[in-house]
Amino acid sequence: MADQAEKLRELVKSNPASSPFGSAHEPKKTRIITITSEKGGVGKTNMAVHLALSCAKIGKKVTLLDADLGLANVNVILGVIPKYTLYHMIRQQKTMREIITETDYGIRFVAGASGFTKIANLSDEERKTFIEELMTLSDADILIIDTSAGVSKNVLDFVAAADDTLIITTPEPTAITDAYGIIKIIATEFNTTNMGLKLVVNRVASVVEGKKVAERVISIASQFLNIKVDYLGFIFEDPLVQSSVLKQRPFVAVDPKGKAAQCLMNLVSRLEKVDYKEGSGLNSFLSRLFGRIGS
Ligand SMILES: Nc1ncnc2c1ncn2[C@@H]1O[C@H](COP(=O)(O)OP(=O)(O)OP(=O)(O)O)[C@@H](O)[C@H]1O
Ligand SMILES: [Mg+2]
Repeated sequence: MADQAEKLRELVKSNPASSPFGSAHEPKKTRIITITSEKGGVGKTNMAVHLALSCAKIGKKVTLLDADLGLANVNVILGVIPKYTLYHMIRQQKTMREIITETDYGIRFVAGASGFTKIANLSDEERKTFIEELMTLSDADILIIDTSAGVSKNVLDFVAAADDTLIITTPEPTAITDAYGIIKIIATEFNTTNMGLKLVVNRVASVVEGKKVAERVISIASQFLNIKVDYLGFIFEDPLVQSSVLKQRPFVAVDPKGKAAQCLMNLVSRLEKVDYKEGSGLNSFLSRLFGRIGS
């Protein structure tokens, strides 16, 4: 593993113009937000898409990366058929610029490649391409990464690299147990008390329900794992979420004043108030990614 990391560093260093470790012109800081959960179907993709749209509403330049390489479906929720996906980029048929898809919603997105090999299994050459091309996204203020459920190696890479990791749960007991489970894996894997973890409780019936679920998860994480998790907020159960998925039109566009859409705006304003950790930005993202690859 360490050998592979060394090879990768050499590959990138051999091309300083595109090196993530220091080009003459540092790209501006891009806040990286990774969205994750252990349990499937808790609302990650909806969260990623609507967080992106809500951040764009307050004037941020947002890029959404669909890193769920098993079941990519950001494009389904956005109702956009991408011409190209990560598949074409990793296979070096297209550059990141060429595969970025513009939308009518004020955000840009990079479509995932359903059924494609996990990033963890890419060859040296493919991984080098992927990492170099990620630099192209550094002109965004915010990069939101939607991941697949569970803790595969590539998901942990994106957690390691993120300024903020949003853990999504619902009030269902199995989802709560799984939220604790993923926090435990992160705590064990990274051995640090502050990973910028933030909990979002989706599909709540009331404000109190969201708070109760969050308090449970956060206090157990603090007591047994000694890891800090902040409560970012909740999203109400809202039938509009499902109907807008069926219509392939984001609910914040269908009804910006709806229950779920309002919750998203609250989450954005809370995120905006939190300064993100030192050493953030896409360059650091890539260094951290390399650090992990080497571990
Ligand atoms: N706040 C909500 N209110 C009502 N329904 C919701 C809400 N959030 C999510 N859902 C429902 O849950 C479904 C799954 O959501 P989504 O695809 O975002 O989950 P996911 O975590 O990305 O799933 P996967 O693990 O398969 O990637 C949605 O299609 C929608 O029907
Ligand atoms: Mg999903």
